[in-house]
Amino acid sequence: MGKKRIGILTGGGDCPGLNAVIRGVAKTAINQYGMEVVGILDGFRGMLEGRFTILDYEKVSGILTIGGTILGTDNKTDPFNVLEVVNGKKETVDKSDVCMEFYRDLGLDALICVGGDGTLTIAGKLAQKGANVIGVPKTIDNDLMETDQTFGFDSARHTATEAIDKLHTTAQSHHRVMLVEVMGRNAGWLALESGLAGGGDIILIPEIPYEIDEIIAAIRRRNRFGKRFSIIVVSEGARPKGGEQVYQRIVDDPAEPKRLGGVSNVIARQIEQATGIECRVAILGHLQRGGTPTPYDRLLATQYAVKAVELAVEKKYNHMVALKGRDMVAVPIERVMGKQRLVPRNSPLIEAAICVGTSFGVKMD
Ligand code: F6P
Repeated sequence: MGKKRIGILTGGGDCPGLNAVIRGVAKTAINQYGMEVVGILDGFRGMLEGRFTILDYEKVSGILTIGGTILGTDNKTDPFNVLEVVNGKKETVDKSDVCMEFYRDLGLDALICVGGDGTLTIAGKLAQKGANVIGVPKTIDNDLMETDQTFGFDSARHTATEAIDKLHTTAQSHHRVMLVEVMGRNAGWLALESGLAGGGDIILIPEIPYEIDEIIAAIRRRNRFGKRFSIIVVSEGARPKGGEQVYQRIVDDPAEPKRLGGVSNVIARQIEQATGIECRVAILGHLQRGGTPTPYDRLLATQYAVKAVELAVEKKYNHMVALKGRDMVAVPIERVMGKQRLVPRNSPLIEAAICVGTSFGVKMD
């Protein structure tokens, strides 16, 4: 029998810790099990286009602390729904067979897919077509089901908290309302946790639609107590009660064409009009996805990588590695597919925030 051969790809938006996973997978597979490791370039797009590289020891050495992914990624290609122009009209075409052919041509025993819900949903569908897949949960949004934490989230939380800390002093000096918009899509984890860690006065998350009058009332309350500035941490997915989210662009992504962003500008205008207090907006954007992973994310990414290779050795395919408490476990990938883990209303973090006087832009019971 020849050497076992495993593949790895990174899909969806990048984040700190992807290289730590690639390194962890390749080193474990090569060192511990004498396997061969194939890196597929640019996620599922690379699979459709047949692009890959052999990951030898040299290629993955020295990348632990580097942000991004040496394999490249793509957050718009779904092989089951490829956008094509047919007779002048955009249509989606199922090209998943091309991926399956590539998987077989490469002679892979297993394919490790590192990504968020989009990537893992595609991975699960490839598993249904016969591929042996193993998922690794990645995203700064922390919105994947079945795991306590995705890697990348801690680094993004750190970046966002640092930004809030810095904006605090300038808000205070100028007696302004400062709005800090963070990513997270439809989940408020990043806003909630960086907002609480950074002492935000008001935190707006998608799970709790806000009322502008309540936001203004909270600012006025602070003024009455002699606080002439306020920090509002806004999740990009926040929306008013009965209203819509704000989108900054539409992209060619069949699964999720609308890219969120800009809600804090809308709120800032409303606050200025109602109170006359000067507002400034800082949209952190892709800064949150860059930089070196925090020590926590390096540890989490490395543990996920080692567990993923172990699953490949045990032939425990079509599972995602997950963190439960302090343990690395395996969960069936179909439990993750097409779902998002949102902040529950009874989250202890929300309770803690309320206790220290944080407003969520609504009257809370
Ligand atoms: O899912 C990660 C994420 O950074 C979201 O927080 C954000 O809404 C989205 O990706 C941005 O996507 P893009 O990189 O295409 O602008």
